[in-house]
Amino acid sequence: MAWSTAHIHDQRGRTALITGASAGIGLETARELAARGAHVVLACRDRARGRAAAHRVGGSNEVLRLDLASLDSVREAAAEVRGRHGRLDLLINNAGVMFPPYARTQDGFEAHFGVNHLGHFALTGLLLDLMTQAPGSRVVTVSSLAHRAGLGRCGEREARAADGRRSLTAYGRSKLANLMFARELQHRLASARVPTVSLSAHPGLSPTGLWHGDPPALLRPVAAAALKGLAQPVDRAALPSLRAATDHRVPGGAHLGPGERFESRGAPRPARSSRAARDVAAQAELWDLSQKLTGVSYSLGPAHAAADPAAAVCPVRGVAG
Ligand SMILES: NC(=O)c1ccc[n+]([C@@H]2O[C@H](COP(=O)([O-])OP(=O)(O)OC[C@H]3O[C@@H](n4cnc5c(N)ncnc54)[C@H](OP(=O)(O)O)[C@@H]3O)[C@@H](O)[C@H]2O)c1
Repeated sequence: MAWSTAHIHDQRGRTALITGASAGIGLETARELAARGAHVVLACRDRARGRAAAHRVGGSNEVLRLDLASLDSVREAAAEVRGRHGRLDLLINNAGVMFPPYARTQDGFEAHFGVNHLGHFALTGLLLDLMTQAPGSRVVTVSSLAHRAGLGRCGEREARAADGRRSLTAYGRSKLANLMFARELQHRLASARVPTVSLSAHPGLSPTGLWHGDPPALLRPVAAAALKGLAQPVDRAALPSLRAATDHRVPGGAHLGPGERFESRGAPRPARSSRAARDVAAQAELWDLSQKLTGVSYSLGPAHAAADPAAAVCPVRGVAG
């Protein structure tokens, strides 16, 4: 039987933080987890939109102010979570921008790469030790079919480029980085024998606010046709994230997406990823670059290294900010 929300088991006693919970797929993901009894932390860049989302989500929830375009805001948000919660069971790195109105983040990073990847890289690192306290904890990072447009390796020059605002390559690069980050994190967690797992998911296509950006003119008709012919409603688009977060038969490192029509719609299943996303050397390079650019270093060793017995005793401690 195709996976649906009916498969989500009781989430009472679990705390889930969802970024970009004010709208679209994040709002839907939060709503479903709250309906199953989880306490949900709605991480939103705008407090008023967060409060409106809290009203729609219902159940047990709280709003957290988080602007992923500012590493200061990421640090403040992580500190607030640490002050309020002793453990975190689910972290869903969902927020995203596509063709936004600004070129760079507050810290001078290309907008897509800064918000979609670096902000989440920093947030995850700053919260990871709260997750290792929680049995069955999961980090789910939301990518996209567009990861295939993320051509070439990402170095500091691309991470700081000013011309990515209307570039599909720049959006694709950030979504490729989401996938590579999820995999490298899983490798590192497994190497350190930390039970927290990292997975990725993509929603296919859905007519959310993401499409209200300012795309290059050539792309407009293609996007409109794709949305018209292939998209699925937002509650269906949230299913890959929800399955990755709650189905414990899906192992760390898995990538889920809709199973029909070139993965644009349908029930969530294991999804394909590009060769670039599977390049383990590039994953490690991206990790090092992300640590350097954010100043957040995870106390996890390199992936694929022999597991350090000391790390197994004290696997993940706090993170230098
Ligand atoms: N919809 C699709 O067809 C599609 C396809 C592939 C992948 N995705 C991915 O799915 C995820 C969710 O997107 P969506 O479709 O639900 O889009 P959406 O409706 O535009 O929602 C995006 C969410 O991200 C938040 N956000 C944007 N910039 C932020 C920032 N600087 N700090 C914190 N939050 C920020 C938005 O907050 P505000 O409400 O304040 O704007 C909103 O809550 C994204 O990662 C996107 O790349 C979507």
